[in-house]
Amino acid sequence: MKLPPTTCFPLLILDPPYVCREEREREREREREREREREREREREREREREREREREREREREREREREREREREREREREREREREREREREREREREREREQKITTCIGREAATLLSLPAYKSCRLVLACRDVDKLDLASLASVQQCYRDFIAHFGPSASLDVLVLNAGRAHFESRVAQLTADGFEVTLQTNFLGHVLLTELLLPHLRRAAQPRLVFLSSSLHDPDSRSRSSDVPTVATSSYRSGIQNTKPPPDVDLATLFSIQDKSPLSGRWIYQTSKLAGMLYLYALQRREAGQSPLRCCAISPGFIPQTNLFRNSSALVTRTVHEGGVIIARVCTDDALPLGREPSHDMEAELGCAPTQGAGYFVLNNASQVEAVWSSDRSYHAALAEELYTAALARCAPYL
Ligand SMILES: NC(=O)c1ccc[n+]([C@@H]2O[C@H](COP(=O)([O-])OP(=O)(O)OC[C@H]3O[C@@H](n4cnc5c(N)ncnc54)[C@H](OP(=O)(O)O)[C@@H]3O)[C@@H](O)[C@H]2O)c1
Repeated sequence: MKLPPTTCFPLLILDPPYVCREEREREREREREREREREREREREREREREREREREREREREREREREREREREREREREREREREREREREREREREREREQKITTCIGREAATLLSLPAYKSCRLVLACRDVDKLDLASLASVQQCYRDFIAHFGPSASLDVLVLNAGRAHFESRVAQLTADGFEVTLQTNFLGHVLLTELLLPHLRRAAQPRLVFLSSSLHDPDSRSRSSDVPTVATSSYRSGIQNTKPPPDVDLATLFSIQDKSPLSGRWIYQTSKLAGMLYLYALQRREAGQSPLRCCAISPGFIPQTNLFRNSSALVTRTVHEGGVIIARVCTDDALPLGREPSHDMEAELGCAPTQGAGYFVLNNASQVEAVWSSDRSYHAALAEELYTAALARCAPYL
């Protein structure tokens, strides 16, 4: 059989697979392209994911930074707390320091040191009566309180008790004071505390002292009882007097006992605290010597004054400064020795020149004592004025007149 020439059926049959291959090839190519596109898309997606991851990482980093900042803040807060704690500790330390100062205020006066020593066998194990200041006990700035103290003594020991030693230790000094301050009794407070109160106590207890075998009256004086008088012993602590010479305002000249005005000082009138302290101590010396002259030949009483030296640790002169200083213990030692020493030296008496020139009179065995550089009790001269017999008698009489209502 002969086929028509236009017939090409077999080819048509053959062609579709060919076309199909082409098409499939393109299709695959497109598919691959899509695949690559998807791949790129996935890649972009991964990239975005990585970007988000980096962002999260940065966020975590910022969070860590914020946490570190909070930690630093907490650390600063802890540091501030530690600083506050240190400040509280410093405040507690300052409070303890103030407490120690208050303790010292109670414990550093030389009277307390002397009392401690006098209770020891080395100082005859004395039986002590401490008329310490208290709301219920002795206030030397009140004559009624002194009288009450004496009544308490009698009530406790009986009217016929004998007294071996009376120590007049208490004293006050307000050098910065510029106006007079009066007590309820109407006397200048330093004068009454350091002098008049002691006079009344001594006069009340005198009969009891006279009953003892070797009685002593011991008065805490001061080298300041006359800054003008040059010490005649190199061992007496010297105190500068240049403040007077250079003319400190509101101070009076060196002390003298002006009896016309001493007991009539007015409240709030101008008055140097230093002057009245010095005057009170000079008045005490004059009284002591006058009493000794009166007792001479009548009783074995010895009247002893002490200059303990400059002791800045006590309350009295806590804020002062001086080159020559003594310790509280040394102050206690000289009091205890003057109270109990059987070999206490005799006091110095005024020279014939002083008797002639100044009207001084022998003190009949009274003494003015210091602790010398060898730590021995030494009798030295007191100020020229302190030996003035007529002035002493006048003062004695005037002081007793003020005390009379309580005797
Ligand atoms: N420290 C010195 O450098 C020095 C130098 C020369 C002479 N002095 C003399 O030594 C003596 C003792 O002085 P201090 O250095 O030991 O001084 P302080 O520490 O001030 O002691 C003075 C004592 O006197 C007492 N006192 C004050 N006013 C009183 C009053 N109205 N009634 C009763 N007691 C009163 C005080 O009692 P409160 O504790 O209750 O106040 C204290 O116990 C004083 O007479 C002083 O003039 C001292």
